[in-house]
Amino acid sequence: MTSPSLPLPQGRPQSRRNRLVRRLRAITGAIMLVFVTGHLIAHASGLFGIGVAQKVLDVTMAPWTVPPGSLLLPAAFLLHASLGLRALYLRRSLRMPPTEALQLALGLLLPMLLAAHITGVDAALSVDAGVDSYTRIMALLWTPTGALRQFVLLGVVWLHGMIGLGFWLKGRGAGAGWIAAWRIGAWALPLAALLGFLDAGRSVAGLVKLGLLSPTLSALPADLHARAQANEFAMIANWTFAIFATFAARGLRHLISLRHGRVVVTYPGGRTVRMLPGGSVLEASRLGNVPHVAVCGGRGRCSTCRVEIVRGLENLPPADAEESALLSRIRAPAGVRLACRLHPTGPVTVHPLLKAQGRGRRPSEDPMVHGGREKRVAILFTDIRGSTAIAEQRPPYDIMFLLERYFETIGGAVEAAGGTPNAFVGDEVMAIFGADGGDGPEDFAAAATQALHAAGEIARRLEVLNRSLVRDLGQPLRIGIGIHGGPAVVGRLGYGETRMLTAVGDTVHVARRLEELTKAHACLLVVSDDILQAAGRAPATLDASCHEITVRGRVEPLAVHAVPAEAVHRLGG
Ligand code: HEM
Ligand code: HEM
Ligand code: FES
Repeated sequence: MTSPSLPLPQGRPQSRRNRLVRRLRAITGAIMLVFVTGHLIAHASGLFGIGVAQKVLDVTMAPWTVPPGSLLLPAAFLLHASLGLRALYLRRSLRMPPTEALQLALGLLLPMLLAAHITGVDAALSVDAGVDSYTRIMALLWTPTGALRQFVLLGVVWLHGMIGLGFWLKGRGAGAGWIAAWRIGAWALPLAALLGFLDAGRSVAGLVKLGLLSPTLSALPADLHARAQANEFAMIANWTFAIFATFAARGLRHLISLRHGRVVVTYPGGRTVRMLPGGSVLEASRLGNVPHVAVCGGRGRCSTCRVEIVRGLENLPPADAEESALLSRIRAPAGVRLACRLHPTGPVTVHPLLKAQGRGRRPSEDPMVHGGREKRVAILFTDIRGSTAIAEQRPPYDIMFLLERYFETIGGAVEAAGGTPNAFVGDEVMAIFGADGGDGPEDFAAAATQALHAAGEIARRLEVLNRSLVRDLGQPLRIGIGIHGGPAVVGRLGYGETRMLTAVGDTVHVARRLEELTKAHACLLVVSDDILQAAGRAPATLDASCHEITVRGRVEPLAVHAVPAEAVHRLGG
């Protein structure tokens, strides 16, 4: 890419404060997540008996019962909750994607549920009941409503934390291993904790029934109960007041702002959104229902919300150090900014660079039974040229986005031509034509025609994709296509529910080799003579140059044709 990177201006005090606030919110969230994770591990170990649960609980609680842990946890809680309310106040619009809304709602609900747990545990442990703390709390919690409340509390806390962790990991382009660990941990730990809790609860209830534990353990003495309830009520009342105060402050700000003008954000096609000054361009998009990609949820970590400033540069504060760092990392040209970090003070016209699009259709279902059958099919391979260089220049999440658009383009073209996109490996796509239907010459001819048509359609759609990407990538995506046809074993391969149509055999290897040959012949498509013949296409009509290659299992060399891009375009339509 040739465009200059943005310089790194000094951050303004306000943006430095915002950065600090975001960091503090993440750190305090992480501190609480560490506590909750330890807590849940202890409950999960209840599966090995209540004695084990107690031992693990002692270990996991230990750091939090003496300073600095005993101060850190409540401080993190208070700070995180306040920063959560601050974020709620600062949002110019309450329109947000469902996951963000869920995280916020769960966060607001959480203290209401936690109040009973903390005050109950506190009261129960304030007197020596002659049993260990886990048994004591279990005996107390083991009522239908008590258990249900723990379930809900656990679910709410964990879901809130996991959504936060998910945004954090994705925004940093975490590797597949981390994402997999997050996915598994998100389900496995709370599930194991609930099972452990059920097990421990049942055994304590059993001991009470057998008279081995005093039934008085199952309830708090009246005075302690009253005190716990009063504390719980006070906590809930305070938090409810804080939420109301936040919404009231939002309302007040809105009333005051009515006296000020609105900032107008204009999008391609002349669409405009008017919003209160202080909001970000991403918020304007959400306010006006303008589709706008924001993979990290507006946290300034992924760069996918970037926009080109078409007009109104003078109404934009300079990028802070964090935004500049991200923009220079992706080598954004001057005039490109992150919509989630951009708070215009006057009218501005923007052009979102990554287009939000619907998901591609699922590959067509086919009636192929397991085990596969041999038949003649046409196989098409595509691969991106210079993908390593592109991958090195861009953050992983950007690559994911790019690949998704690319796969949508290729998959859509293949399906439109009547084929089935099969494997998406790295940036390589394999597609099968003629998998269903008979095995007669006319079926193979249809498959070959479809594959050629798909090549033309891919070329056409890629050009459209490139038009929207070129501004962003600085250069078009270039690909190679290989097509060959012949016998292959076709069937549904996979495991369990995850099965997809696939083809196996030399025909597939040859098709891939032809795709690789596009590099040597500097052309868009290399297609075997077998395919052109079956489709009734004369090589001369494609301005193709003919070559011969040797192929395993074939005495005669295989004739192949290198077809230039302009001729491939003519194959579509
Ligand atoms: C199945 C769910 C849960 C069970 C059975 C449970 C059980 C317990 C027990 C036995 C203790 C006493 C520990 C001790 O000092 O020996 C405790 C304390 C505590 N739990 Fe939970 N817990 C659950 C879920 C949660 C969740 C989701 C949170 C969320 C943050 C949480 C926060 C706390 C806190 C902050 C304390 C310390 C309270 C204090 O010392 O005043 N618990 N819990
Ligand atoms: C007092 C109740 C809580 C409230 C009101 C609250 C609110 C919030 C809010 C508003 C966000 C940020 C969403 C955004 O970026 O716009 C957030 C993030 C987060 N919260 Fe909480 N939260 C609470 C308790 C907790 C607890 C107990 C945990 C630990 C299990 C936790 C873990 C996290 C994490 C890990 C994040 C992501 C941090 C980041 O990406 O910056 N939160 N919370
Ligand atoms: S949404 Fe991720 S950087 Fe703006």
